[in-house]
Amino acid sequence: MSRLDSMLRRLTAQRDGLNWAASAIAGIDGDVLDLGLGNGRTYDHLRESLSDRRVWVIDRVLQCHPSCVPPEENFLQGEAEPMLHRLAESPHRMALAHYDFGFGIKEEDVAEAARLSPAIAAVMASGGLIISGQPLVGFQHIDGPADIPDGRYMFYRAD
Ligand SMILES: C[S@@+](CC[C@H](N)C(=O)[O-])C[C@H]1O[C@@H](n2cnc3c(N)ncnc32)[C@H](O)[C@@H]1O
Repeated sequence: MSRLDSMLRRLTAQRDGLNWAASAIAGIDGDVLDLGLGNGRTYDHLRESLSDRRVWVIDRVLQCHPSCVPPEENFLQGEAEPMLHRLAESPHRMALAHYDFGFGIKEEDVAEAARLSPAIAAVMASGGLIISGQPLVGFQHIDGPADIPDGRYMFYRAD
């Protein structure tokens, strides 16, 4: 498969997964967290599809498209672990978190996702959903949309 095809499949799974999760959290109180602002694509999608929720974003840099700059009060700029700790100390809890960190080096990306999993768990609302491009640990694995093959995008529920 060409890299273009591979990227399109990943982005389609990401978009479909986000849409599925946006509906699936309808009965769960809480905010939304995008882990990895990057260009701002998924943040833009989340703030559009979940416009009634507060959408937090964590990234070490602010380098997104100018139209996707999050409000200062919702953007936690810094390394993920201390930013997650800061959020955990606040009264805010997440009904949905989207994990989109990664350098593209599989082993390192998997290790970082495992390392950050407990800090993510600490900010989740009970029964909240986490959708992720990397495997996370310590959450209940759930089935996402039927048309996303196992492993292409991952779906979890917090305790
Ligand atoms: C793949 S990009 C995110 C793409 C974004 N969701 C989008 O749709 O445009 C990953 C981002 O995560 C950030 N990042 C990766 N690891 C991080 C960490 N440990 N702490 C904070 N930011 C991190 C990088 O700076 C980068 O902007």
